[in-house]
Amino acid sequence: MSNNEQIILENIFSRKSVRHFIHEAVSKERLELLMKAGMAAPSANNKQPWSFIGITDRTIMDYLADGLPYAKMLAQAGGAIVVCGDMNKIDPNKKDFWIQDCSAATENILLAAEGVGLGAVWTALYPYKERYSVVQGKLSLPDHIIPLCIIPIGQPTGVDLSKEKFKSENIHWNKW
Ligand SMILES: Cc1cc2nc3c(=O)[nH]c(=O)nc-3n(C[C@H](O)[C@H](O)[C@H](O)COP(=O)(O)O)c2cc1C
Repeated sequence: MSNNEQIILENIFSRKSVRHFIHEAVSKERLELLMKAGMAAPSANNKQPWSFIGITDRTIMDYLADGLPYAKMLAQAGGAIVVCGDMNKIDPNKKDFWIQDCSAATENILLAAEGVGLGAVWTALYPYKERYSVVQGKLSLPDHIIPLCIIPIGQPTGVDLSKEKFKSENIHWNKW
């Protein structure tokens, strides 16, 4: 295996959900780099039906940490990215693809964060109205913008570790 191949696979295998952060801001430049990685994701018919909101404001992070029980780590994170589907960019005949497209963008952001030494975790908003409405309200999102998830991002403390997930029984060759 080439050095390059090894580095890329190492990044994929070492990615983990990071929920514990050193209290330190993440710069807009860093967040923008991660959003750029998100935009490099594949999307059905190359519709790119996404929109990203970078959050650096401490009061907004704390408000969302309070209102989102499954994203409490926002209180320690140094920044966050909300990955949204833009209903004005979707193909009406293939409505549900926005979720897969935005999920691909989200995974790209998680991998890029790991690659630049940051920690991040996917926290679900959509399809839970009680979760995504908190974000829609606080960030004044127009009706056609649906937040799929919010990704708290920061300097990892080091306690969160990657998990071994390989299971040979999950692989089938040529037939079940
Ligand atoms: C669709 C989706 C929703 C998730 N929602 C949450 C969440 O709301 N809060 C959270 O702490 N983690 C959430 N996670 C992270 C998972 O718990 C995590 O990926 C899983 O436990 C595997 O751990 P790993 O990411 O470290 O490999 C979510 C992950 C996915 C893919």
